[in-house]
Amino acid sequence: MKKFIIGTIATVLLLTIAFGVQQGLLFAKPLPYDDEQKGLNTQITIHLSHVVAENTPKGQAASKFAELVEKKTNGKVKVHVYPNSSLFNDENEFQALQNGQVEMIIPTFSKMTSYIPNWQVLDLPYLFNTDDEVHEVLTGSIGEQLLNELKPFHIKGLGFWHNGFKHLTSVDHPIHAFEDLKGLRVRTMPSKTLEKQFEVVGATPIPTSFSEVFTDLESNTINAQENTASNIYSKGFYKVQKHMTLTKHGILGYAVLMNDKFWRSLPSDIQQQVMEAMKETTDWQFEQAVEMNEEDLQKLKQQENFEIYTMSNKERQRFKDKLAPVYDFYRNNVQENDVLSEIEKIVSP
Ligand code: LMR
Repeated sequence: MKKFIIGTIATVLLLTIAFGVQQGLLFAKPLPYDDEQKGLNTQITIHLSHVVAENTPKGQAASKFAELVEKKTNGKVKVHVYPNSSLFNDENEFQALQNGQVEMIIPTFSKMTSYIPNWQVLDLPYLFNTDDEVHEVLTGSIGEQLLNELKPFHIKGLGFWHNGFKHLTSVDHPIHAFEDLKGLRVRTMPSKTLEKQFEVVGATPIPTSFSEVFTDLESNTINAQENTASNIYSKGFYKVQKHMTLTKHGILGYAVLMNDKFWRSLPSDIQQQVMEAMKETTDWQFEQAVEMNEEDLQKLKQQENFEIYTMSNKERQRFKDKLAPVYDFYRNNVQENDVLSEIEKIVSP
């Protein structure tokens, strides 16, 4: 009997050991180290949404910023870029940023003017003459002063980026002089000053989301629009219009914005690395934007059935004089501080 009990115990013990070995419960080797899992718990992700194509000044700058942030933080921060309004569009991106549905967006400053009317100063026609003037204003103390106006919205302004000078494109007839704009339905970004600019020349401004411009031009819901060469080329607007007039009548640039609660949640060393990445990207992007617009203008010149006309100096001066009431509109209805005179000290008249 005793033998039988000992035998049974020994058998059960042996079977248990065999089962454990088979299931890898005994003598299990540690799991191989998986690089992908490194720092998984400390990984910080920034979702960055924007509305243009990747091969544009903003698209390229967003990718550069993502790359630099990852490098400077040793991979602790990853920036996922969502271009082409694939996550949010002009109409809902700012709200998404405020709600924390996305950590970063890069709207044109014109699109922020319903929140910060004073930023319309940057939409004034013929205010800037050169890209260098734009750089000095947007990256210096004036730019800083403008970014401070974001505070009541709980948004952290990281800086401004540039795209370039805007020109006009039209579906049916070329714009040789401002009189040719009369009666046209012209798409604008949502900014009262930009709307005024077209009202002054007898056109009807139609504020529309960027993602709708192509189809609105195609269906002739709008007959003209203003934009930079890079946006016109990358979005294929030349396919649904026949004419472009180089007017250089205004600028298009961006505010790089981050949800403030998210910003404040970042450790201070990470904040510093993000700002370093931002500064490096900004220095690079102002030059890159100029080059890209020049390249895209050359590509536009090669398109069949697309005529490019340079507005003569005489007509540009007439256009500029005609638009003078837009400044009165800004001064009387919008201006909240003396930022315009600050800018006028930098730009040549
Ligand atoms: C536009 O709406 O025309 C531009 O703001 C698009 C952009 O973001 O460059």
